[in-house]
Amino acid sequence: MTSKNIVVLISGNGSNLQAIIDHKARNYEIICVVSDQEEAYGLSRAKWANIPTQAISSNKFSKKEFDALLLKLLIDLNADLIVLAGFMKILSNTFINSFDSKIINLHPSLLPSFQGANAIQQAWDAGVKITGCTIHWVNAQVDSGKIIAQEAVQITKDDTLEILTRRIHDTEHKLLTSVVAELSYSF
Ligand code: GRF
Repeated sequence: MTSKNIVVLISGNGSNLQAIIDHKARNYEIICVVSDQEEAYGLSRAKWANIPTQAISSNKFSKKEFDALLLKLLIDLNADLIVLAGFMKILSNTFINSFDSKIINLHPSLLPSFQGANAIQQAWDAGVKITGCTIHWVNAQVDSGKIIAQEAVQITKDDTLEILTRRIHDTEHKLLTSVVAELSYSF
């Protein structure tokens, strides 16, 4: 069984990246971690794991230039799977069409509820009793592609927003790792 090549796109902390790095018996190789933020902590996590990194700072380029640079980089990397793990830029349609059925995204709610930014806060404010996380294929509409996997998280009376956030992140780490491993078998 050959190992599959994965590129992970991040913008910040990279705790989900860390979960994919730490997964035992990996059937995939993370060939590059790409960030739109030069200071993203996730880039340090990648370096400590000896994974090549690339930063294309979204502040230094126009949207058009950024999109073109990202597209070229990912074409050159020629990965089997592109994992958006806390990547906060909206991808261009050209990018999405170029990697049809190769991009997955992680979102901290049970989609289609609470799309967009601050999904955990949105669920908290709405007072729902169950929320969770979703992994889906990326299409041209934000947080709307075909769902691959979901995991529910109950909101209990002892939760604070901070505790709930931590519990959802813990759930994301497990779900993302298992989905990436599973998809790596199916290419
Ligand atoms: C995760 O909650 C993910 O669902 C959202 O951004 C967060 C990234 O966290 N898209 P981290 O950078 O992996 O710690």
